[in-house]
Amino acid sequence: MHLVFIGTGYVGLVSGVMMAHLGHHIICLDSDESKIESLKQGIVPIYEPGLDEYIKNSKKRLQFISQYRDAEFHPDAVFICVGTPQKESGEANLEYVFEAALDSAKNFENVPIVIKSTVPPGTAHAVEAKLRKEGYKNAVISNPEFLSEGRAIDDFLYPDRIIVGADDEKSKELMESIYQSFSNENYSVLCSTRVSAELIKYASNSFLATKIAFINEMADLCEKTSANIEEVSSGIGADKRIGKDFLKTGPGFGGSCFPKDIMALQAICRKYKSESKILDATIESNKFRTENMVEKIREGLGGGLCGAMLGVLGLTFKAGTDDVRSSPALEIIRLLIEEGVYICAYDPKGMDNAKKELQVDMAKSYRACAMGAYALVILTEWDEFKNLDYESLAMDMGRKIIFDFRNIIDVQEAEKHGFKVFQLGKVKAT
Ligand code: UDX
Repeated sequence: MHLVFIGTGYVGLVSGVMMAHLGHHIICLDSDESKIESLKQGIVPIYEPGLDEYIKNSKKRLQFISQYRDAEFHPDAVFICVGTPQKESGEANLEYVFEAALDSAKNFENVPIVIKSTVPPGTAHAVEAKLRKEGYKNAVISNPEFLSEGRAIDDFLYPDRIIVGADDEKSKELMESIYQSFSNENYSVLCSTRVSAELIKYASNSFLATKIAFINEMADLCEKTSANIEEVSSGIGADKRIGKDFLKTGPGFGGSCFPKDIMALQAICRKYKSESKILDATIESNKFRTENMVEKIREGLGGGLCGAMLGVLGLTFKAGTDDVRSSPALEIIRLLIEEGVYICAYDPKGMDNAKKELQVDMAKSYRACAMGAYALVILTEWDEFKNLDYESLAMDMGRKIIFDFRNIIDVQEAEKHGFKVFQLGKVKAT
């Protein structure tokens, strides 16, 4: 089939490229000319393992353009994958979605418009109403995306489910034929109304965020009761009704989706005068989590933070990405700097992006970052931090303390070299 993807952010680019890989003819359109020029030369603007190879291999079926008039074909469907940034009120800004829908309708007469961007319930209906008012007849379909960064290709090829929100049979059939080319037999296309599909996306992300906030609070309780969070997580996760995923304690959830989407869902509840007590608590709990990490460092250092020198390992909101948007690491660093801490940070992929967000010294390696530090604070679960060279670190560091806020290091190994290790949800180091 012939498909156009509007917006070459995470969702648009990965979906467009992978649809080309599956045999469809794809146009990726983005108004950012420099981004399109780079993509034409094979330069990928995001860090997503393997994506550059897929672009190279599907070149014949992929066109990158910044103007509608350059489109090489009239498509069977247009996918809108533009951003829905957060407004100050927490609501999603839908300006780019409406703009893209109107431009698509103008340029592709009667071609169905599929909204992949994360949008509040009722958006597809409102977009359709706007198009009708302007005299366009394009159908509007909802098809939210569930890709996670760093594993977006696998998520695309092997989804748990594909959500299609369509209010008419023709649209459902179109979407089923688009997704027919999937070789994976373990997924299913779940059809619903458009408004349900829109809500499924927000509810999924908010539910997962709530699961993380919950386990983080349990980790705090483990520290106080001498229970072990890893044992507790695997114990509760073994119950299939709960599931083992998203039960890993850490410094709080971040990224471009969870914090934004849960706030947007809270704003939706407000709009419809519907209770959001659980969402409110999750947001509050996650905010408190970063402050809580700072308190753990203060306590571990013996009460004083001002003037301390800390090496921070990890800036991205999780491993496998260069993305630092709403990263708990950056927030924790900001709070520590306010307390008068001197920070040197290191991250294998996220330093360029972090430099745009905060002013902090950065080192070229974790060892350089540890030089003279009172303690190391691990905030992202990069593989590189799982097996640190403790022997060298013991010689380079001022005091031998590690705050492992991702629970990834071999504590016994570190202790052998004289390190005192603080992990989350475990009996405190003495
Ligand atoms: C998420 C959703 O998973 C994806 O389906 C949606 O399309 C976009 O948002 P992503 O933001 O890439 O994907 O990251 P994800 O892997 O879900 O992690 C989000 C945050 O939760 C990270 O900060 C991560 O460190 C944290 N997390 C995740 C935990 O603290 N514990 C866990 O067990 C899982």
